[in-house]
Amino acid sequence: TQGATVIAVDGPAAAGKGTLARRLAEALGLPFLDTGLLYRAVGRRVLDAGADPRDAAIAEAAARALTPADLERTDLRGPMADMAASAVAAIPAVRAALLDFQRAFGRARGAVLDGRDIGTVVFPDARVKLFVTASVEERARRRFLELRGRGVAADPAQVEAEIRDRDAQDANRPVAPLRPAEDAVILDTTALDAEAAFAKALALVRERLDAGRA
Ligand code: CDP
Ligand code: CDP
Repeated sequence: TQGATVIAVDGPAAAGKGTLARRLAEALGLPFLDTGLLYRAVGRRVLDAGADPRDAAIAEAAARALTPADLERTDLRGPMADMAASAVAAIPAVRAALLDFQRAFGRARGAVLDGRDIGTVVFPDARVKLFVTASVEERARRRFLELRGRGVAADPAQVEAEIRDRDAQDANRPVAPLRPAEDAVILDTTALDAEAAFAKALALVRERLDAGRA
């Protein structure tokens, strides 16, 4: 028998992974997990302790001490939190500490998970793998608008620079680097709004789920 239905949604920063994964989960009646929040919460704990997010021992301890309440914090987004998340995410012991939780979440009732390594490491046998991307300029534009919507004043050039830095850091780390799984479907949303991207993704997912059942 096939295991729980797991759908992996990976891709670079601000590609629309979270928005898309949440809507897919809703449409398919599956639980949703934003795995970036786990790394963000670990980074935040390390910053709160006044430590350097590259400190492996402190970051690992923070990952092991993570509680559900940490994921509800409202200060997990913004340039500091983004870079702290990416820094702790490069530490193998941090990734290892978060792995069981992600796998247990997906196995329980199936799930749509979004992140960087869902299709490559967390669920290499996911039923469907989407790699959602868009040009860096378009992703920076989306993140800028998102920040503005939250009342955060940001400089567009700085937002783009931060996204480029973080993608480079995520793609060049030795452990679980950002890259599409070999069997992932690449969904370039540069010219698609959120609605069109969702419609396309849902059709792709349904097609693959049906093919798997046949
Ligand atoms: O929303 P955005 O794409 O800006 O970031 P995120 O998905 O919340 O992830 C924040 C950081 O966590 C990323 O830059 C990665 O370094 C890390 N991450 C990861 O390494 N693996 C995951 N499965 C999810 C996030
Ligand atoms: O999770 P990730 O960082 O990849 O992106 P997100 O948090 O879902 O944010 C993407 C932003 O771009 C949201 O404000 C969306 O409304 C918008 N957007 C999108 O998600 N998909 C598109 N195709 C176009 C715009």
